[in-house]
Amino acid sequence: MSRLTRRNFIKAALAASGGVLVSTPLQAMTRPELPSEASFPHGVASGDPLQDAVILWTRAVPATGHGAQDPVKVTWELARDNDFTDVLRRGSVETGPRRDYTVKIDVQGLEPDTRYYYRFVGASEQSPVGRTKTLPTGSVEQVKLAVFSCSNYPAGYFNAYALAAQREDWDAVLHLGDYIYEYAADGYATERSAEIGRALPADNSGEILNLADYRKRYALYRTDAGLQALHAAAPFIAVWDDHEVANDTWKEGAENHSAEEGDFFERRAAAIQAYYEWLPIRPPMGESKPQIYRSFQFGDLLDLHMLDTRVIGRDQQLDFAGYLGEDGSFDGRAFGAALANPDRTLLGPTQRNWLAETLAQAKGHWQLLGQQVLMGKMHLPAEVMMSFYSQGKKEDPTPELVQLKAASLQGQPLTEAQRARLAQVVPYNLDAWDGYAVEREALYRHVAAQSKNLVVVAGDTHNAWCNHLTDDSGKLVGLEFATPSVTSPGMESYLKLDEKSAAELARGMSVLIDDLQYCNLHQRGFMALTFNREQVQADWHFIDNIDSTEFSEAGSHSVVHSLV
Ligand SMILES: [Fe+2]
Repeated sequence: MSRLTRRNFIKAALAASGGVLVSTPLQAMTRPELPSEASFPHGVASGDPLQDAVILWTRAVPATGHGAQDPVKVTWELARDNDFTDVLRRGSVETGPRRDYTVKIDVQGLEPDTRYYYRFVGASEQSPVGRTKTLPTGSVEQVKLAVFSCSNYPAGYFNAYALAAQREDWDAVLHLGDYIYEYAADGYATERSAEIGRALPADNSGEILNLADYRKRYALYRTDAGLQALHAAAPFIAVWDDHEVANDTWKEGAENHSAEEGDFFERRAAAIQAYYEWLPIRPPMGESKPQIYRSFQFGDLLDLHMLDTRVIGRDQQLDFAGYLGEDGSFDGRAFGAALANPDRTLLGPTQRNWLAETLAQAKGHWQLLGQQVLMGKMHLPAEVMMSFYSQGKKEDPTPELVQLKAASLQGQPLTEAQRARLAQVVPYNLDAWDGYAVEREALYRHVAAQSKNLVVVAGDTHNAWCNHLTDDSGKLVGLEFATPSVTSPGMESYLKLDEKSAAELARGMSVLIDDLQYCNLHQRGFMALTFNREQVQADWHFIDNIDSTEFSEAGSHSVVHSLV
């Protein structure tokens, strides 16, 4: 039996934790081993704060001449101040090619609601200094979150991250996925990449399929100054959406995965491994498992439940095309039956049961679901949907229908034919909760039965939205706030609208869609959410461009809701 030296202990701990070094107070301030020559070009990050713990992250790139398989050792420090005059904890950590030289430490035994500073130290270089914060306990008056999704490198610079990094008062940053995109250099949203200096590099210019590809893509994204600044400014609480694996992922495949690209589950495992290596996340079942749904308590004010509506449980998306006859007719009956199938799921039974149980036991004043796809009912008149598909070939019926709807809302009488035009609605996006309506209704009923104050945040659409969440009886059960993309193009690009027409369509959609309170269809940015005892406030912050790192805030919009 070998003696349990400190070195062996660290090795054993690394093996047991799947590569994350757990630092308890007992290990604090032990003499660090001599660090290796390493640099930290991808910055630092922290994440998954608890009342007494937080994950610290960096990547320690070995100096030239370092043996390809040799480990790299660096020292980490956690201090009360950003000058590191009051260092509270210090330790050594070893990484290597097995985890792409990324370093993750789960620092435990910390104080609640406390700001800490951290850095990593190599033989002759230091990382930038990161700032993080633990979650509060007890009575909490306010929680402030920044919410992001959909940062697509070739589409532009991550100025939305940079804007949020200028502020110091975030309790946490929520990232709702599409942190990276899997496409090749000539794929989605790459048209201007060369012109603006965001082309994918030659050694990572194809669609990413294997572990080496995914790792390189993360390394590229992490060179963005705005992203580095935000990671250094506040702890992230992140979930993936589809593009961390491939477009429109579901539990057994993805729209952007074909048999020629190899086994889907092998690809997914590589994608998840790289995600765990590069994100400051503490997966609740360890890094060998794909489960990332997990909860965070912000004292007695807010319980946050991060969900996976994408990878582990989702049934395949329905597709309108599957219900179109050769003559262009739509089989509404068959489509309706498929949509009403009670077995269709986004969450999968295990996660769904976990969420039901967790919500039932939750004591927080607000219950916040951090998840990927829009939950609100986005039911558009069928005529408007058809005009989206026709891409301007037919006359746009939207202005006329908006007028009719506005008239009916003001109590003016409509003809039967006019009422029928408004009443024939279809869900706009079958990849969202609208395509899984039975499971959504069950969730709404559960929340209403438990009398919870429900707020949902979503990403995925690249646009800003605010929805009332209503059940099938029309009862308001919660509120939804959706964040615009960091750079990915939104509806304005898909429908080829200029700024003025996009603003007009946004106003029209808010009239036509019953539960939609606000939307912005053409600007990039992020969303701030502020909770207190009485109300929740959403502030959407938009930026003026993503073509260079010179930018300014181009406006904002605020919505305040009192308790539901
Ligand atoms: Fe996206």
